[in-house]
Amino acid sequence: MTDDYCSPGAEERAQIIRRLLDAQPSVSPTYFYDRTGSRLFEVIAVLDEYYPTATEHAILRRHAADIAAAAGPRAVLAEPGAGSCEKVRHLLPAIAPERYVALDVSAEFLESALQSLRRDFPHIAMTAAAADISLPLPPLPAGRRLWFYPGSSIGNFSPEQARSLLSEWRAHGGDDCALLIGIDLVKDTALLDAAYNDALGVTAAFNLNLLRHLNRLIGSDFRPQQWEHVAFYNAAAARIEMHLRAREALAVRWDSPPGSGLADGRRFAAGDLLHTENSYKYSLQGADALLRSAGFDDVRVWTDERGWFGVFLASAG
Ligand code: AVI
Repeated sequence: MTDDYCSPGAEERAQIIRRLLDAQPSVSPTYFYDRTGSRLFEVIAVLDEYYPTATEHAILRRHAADIAAAAGPRAVLAEPGAGSCEKVRHLLPAIAPERYVALDVSAEFLESALQSLRRDFPHIAMTAAAADISLPLPPLPAGRRLWFYPGSSIGNFSPEQARSLLSEWRAHGGDDCALLIGIDLVKDTALLDAAYNDALGVTAAFNLNLLRHLNRLIGSDFRPQQWEHVAFYNAAAARIEMHLRAREALAVRWDSPPGSGLADGRRFAAGDLLHTENSYKYSLQGADALLRSAGFDDVRVWTDERGWFGVFLASAG
């Protein structure tokens, strides 16, 4: 979660503005997660239409013993982007790691999440470490590292970015590391479209809230009521695309960093799109190929009966 009150440096603001000024404007999906966005995502996770969270949870619960047997005991379980550390809860009893290392942008937020985990699992050592997963990770405690990356968050990276991120974890984890990762699978378009266009409009609110967050980050004057939520499955690219579409011709202004040479705003025509997220879906073979291309091997997968979601375990080659 991004701290609502922490203002980004000039370079980060310039990066946000450069993308807004692009011929095909976009915003990094990392900016969804201010305080309100993080809350809205917690609601999305329990919506009827948004199957990934419940499906992955059911797979982890049902196959915990098998997964733990395949992963082996006494690992250093490291979770990048751990957030509220809720998902690992279902895994800890079976995996019984020597240590759990939660990594996320705000170590302070992680510490409070770890407090309740420590109460429930007093025999497992736990550490919180500040780490932005787009930057090099801090050193990990010695031991056999098991990366845990649930929730199909890998789908929010392009396949090339995903390969490079997982390769870095493979290198950082050492030759005996392994990866336990949740990946959302390709399925019927109607199910995918519904998952990102829920009837209550929570995903729409999550998408529109990005504009309020941008207003705080770059001093812009986006008005959410001038925009509408758009999400659809792009089958050719195997991804859900989320956009915000201008309902009318409008102008937005913002505070560009002095000396950056960047314009202080731009116009949008009615119907113009601001691309806010991709969520890639993989076939079983595609996910297997992704893991192997990142230097992992011995890939095993557990899925639900409908084949909607896969939990993959892969070891360093
Ligand atoms: C966090 N991530 C895996 C979610 C997804 O499904 O891509 C984010 C999300 N966007 C809209 N709904 C959920």
